[in-house]
Amino acid sequence: MDLIEKLATTAAFLADTFGTCPRLALVLGSGLGAFADNLADAQALPYADIPNFLTGSVQGHQGRLVVGKVNGERVVCMQGRLHLYEGIPIADVVFPVRALARWGVKAVVLTNAAGGISAKLAVGNLMLITDHINMLGQNPLTGPNVDGLGPRFPALDDAYDTALGAVVQEVARNQSLPLRAGVYAAMAGPSYETPAEIRMLQVLGADAVGMSTVPAVIALRHMGVRVVGISCITNVAAGLSEVSPDHADVIETGARVAEGFRNLLAGAVPELIEQLGHSERKETSS
Ligand code: HPA
Repeated sequence: MDLIEKLATTAAFLADTFGTCPRLALVLGSGLGAFADNLADAQALPYADIPNFLTGSVQGHQGRLVVGKVNGERVVCMQGRLHLYEGIPIADVVFPVRALARWGVKAVVLTNAAGGISAKLAVGNLMLITDHINMLGQNPLTGPNVDGLGPRFPALDDAYDTALGAVVQEVARNQSLPLRAGVYAAMAGPSYETPAEIRMLQVLGADAVGMSTVPAVIALRHMGVRVVGISCITNVAAGLSEVSPDHADVIETGARVAEGFRNLLAGAVPELIEQLGHSERKETSS
């Protein structure tokens, strides 16, 4: 089965199971899974029960798709994601977000845990991703282009949606929640970086570093889906403090900040959906 057929199968299954597609999806990274547990009228499905979805295995990640309401607005959440470091081919890593795009989502909010590189970022801060540096050594669009999904050479100068990002910034301001902004560098992992690698990333202009998000952003932009990225700074990147990066600390900080992060997302959902409506009306009237 080619990719278009596989996506059609999965999208049809999602439509049969959940009905119409919500306009907004959220990918919940480490420590944020509880956001989906608090949805109203929730309907959840393990990835294992969804055709063509692979299942991940990492601690702190649940591996379910959950559809439900936040502040009265219907969204679809990926509770847990796949990572390259699991040994999963990059095409399979991005399959779930491609399936959501095929089902019909207009925008995806991607969240993650990241190490802080910029001196302006403290542990526990949230950072709106304004741009990324792909240090994975891989791109999900490598290989023959699937013309039915998007162009051979998609532009990424506007990868992180400025209008949607501004909506999230405004919600954060109204909640008196500091939301920094910066560039996210993706490394393949699963080893944390060396101090020399972090100095390199600093020189390259990265503010934070993590092991996810970038493949999904590239695949979604290929398909014309709008993207917002938010990192939770769970630790100081390697060599910039006395403390070594440690997964337990990442989980611990993620849990400590999760409530503020969940509130930000919950507040942002209706505003983002309204903004999507504005843009659609503008498109149809022009
Ligand atoms: N490096 C890479 N990925 C991460 C980090 C880090 O320091 N913290 C959380 N995810």
